[in-house]
Amino acid sequence: MKVNNAEFIISAVGPDQYPTDALPEIALAGRSNVGKSSLINRMINRKNLARTSSTPGKTQHMNYYRVNEDMYFVDFPGYGYAKVSKTQRASWGKMVEKYMAERDTLKLILLVVDLRHPPTGNDKMMFDWLKHYDLPLCVVATKADKIPKTRWPKHIKVMKQELGVLPGDNFIPFSSEIGLGKDELWALIESYSLQ
Ligand code: GTP
Ligand code: MG
Repeated sequence: MKVNNAEFIISAVGPDQYPTDALPEIALAGRSNVGKSSLINRMINRKNLARTSSTPGKTQHMNYYRVNEDMYFVDFPGYGYAKVSKTQRASWGKMVEKYMAERDTLKLILLVVDLRHPPTGNDKMMFDWLKHYDLPLCVVATKADKIPKTRWPKHIKVMKQELGVLPGDNFIPFSSEIGLGKDELWALIESYSLQ
């Protein structure tokens, strides 16, 4: 995809604020601080259009970013952020679940995990839930630049094994820092957006 233009559209707190133009949507899920917003910035070649932070919990709403006139990235708040209240977490869970299960224009979900570490309990739960509902999914294992290249295969193996990624499931090692996986992910996004 040649990104000519990318812009922030809306920080949605509920379905009545979702765009109505029916463009394909690519959603990002993953634990807080894993690198979801950074991944969007890397994909669209912008330093800080999607707000990133070393403080977890930066992304609080569903942030829509439109790429050209072609598609949206939908940046979700991360899960597993301790400072969010239980009630807030529950209501968020419901909204995310509803969006993922019912949104017709949702074409692909990127489950962003940290390649440095084995998946967390929440990562596994999310993966299982997405598989259970047979939703279009790609696991993106980011922050690869933080470990030596020689250790990537081992980390990839552990991540796949512990999540239960099967042959044929989409899995892309990634780094927002060095751009690893960007072309592969764009190719995948384009193939799903056309469906
Ligand atoms: P929430 O919005 O809180 O859910 O976080 P997020 O998942 O959007 O994470 P964000 O993109 O804000 O990144 C969190 C921190 O990790 C920031 O300090 C980023 O600079 C850093 N980071 C993200 N991706 C990478 C990467 O691929 N490599 C390196 N070295 N750092 C990264
Ligand atoms: Mg974020």
